[in-house]
Amino acid sequence: MTHRLALIGFGTVGQALTEILQDKKEELLMGEGLDVQITAVADPIKGCLYHPEGLDTGELLRQVEERGNLDQYPDSPGLERGWDSFRTIRESNADTVIEVSYTDGKTGQPAIDHCKAAFESGKNVVMTNKGPVALAYRELSLLAECHGVRWGFEGTVMSGTPTLRLARSALRGNEITRIRGIFNGTTNFILARMEDGIPFGEALVEAQKQGIAEADPTSDMDGTDVLFKVLILSQVVLGVPLDRDQVECRGIRSLSGTEVQRARQGGKRWKLLGQLQREGKRVTASVQPVLLPLSDPLAGVTGTMNAVTYQCDLAGPVTLVGAGAGRKETGYALLSDLLHMVKGHP
Ligand code: HSE
Repeated sequence: MTHRLALIGFGTVGQALTEILQDKKEELLMGEGLDVQITAVADPIKGCLYHPEGLDTGELLRQVEERGNLDQYPDSPGLERGWDSFRTIRESNADTVIEVSYTDGKTGQPAIDHCKAAFESGKNVVMTNKGPVALAYRELSLLAECHGVRWGFEGTVMSGTPTLRLARSALRGNEITRIRGIFNGTTNFILARMEDGIPFGEALVEAQKQGIAEADPTSDMDGTDVLFKVLILSQVVLGVPLDRDQVECRGIRSLSGTEVQRARQGGKRWKLLGQLQREGKRVTASVQPVLLPLSDPLAGVTGTMNAVTYQCDLAGPVTLVGAGAGRKETGYALLSDLLHMVKGHP
């Protein structure tokens, strides 16, 4: 079976998926009977390309590595230039749009409009941008349903670690009443470095070098990155929509190095937690630094790792620990959604 993709955005995540598709081509063909072809790429900086029979993944990656853009991609029949992202979504022959555009962390645009254009054109969307799910879930999921297409966004929370899928699939039959987690690797790393006596600013630079901080790390520091994940969990796992102003949100800036070290000496640890509590049809949620005893499973989650604990009425507390960011991990989240989508799984 051939499945065609349009990549909207060809930055780190789009390139990571391309690399994975190239490396796993045989495996996907033999194991899943799936021939995935990238027929379109639209990136505001690197350029737009379209070939209805498929672009050469190796050539795409080589062009970007050598030149930083796709301007010299060799001409071939059917290749068109001068497309923007919307035209690419509407006019390409892609079955699925991979939405990995450079999107504003506050408004979720242009990712929200990309999703609308894709659904209205009868195309599925798989994405890792959080804004559309956090801010426009109801509208977009209705639109997708109305056009008979599917929407995958597993990578929006804890990247390739199957956080949403665990709750929606493996834990089915439970009522989940409480969710607590570490949903930001940058701040988790910074807090650990501050425990070692490294000043905040220096620890932030180290985290940026690891490539997991947002392009503008404000949303990591002030907690809004976690806030968006909390909004997604409330909607998708607990089934209750929340507005961002209903969630108390504080980041880690208020914590001093002395405070962090004093906690450690007292056998405790500061963690930036996203917490949700469900009572009937109501959910209360917060994002804030919390002082945890070392016996708490979340206190042991160090470095850039993320973790989530689902409190289930039947299975009890279930904790999942894994990467919450990273090139390969986020690329994998897209592949995982794609495979579920093509196989007709939730
Ligand atoms: N900046 C985020 C983090 C990446 O540090 O976890 C994933 O949203």
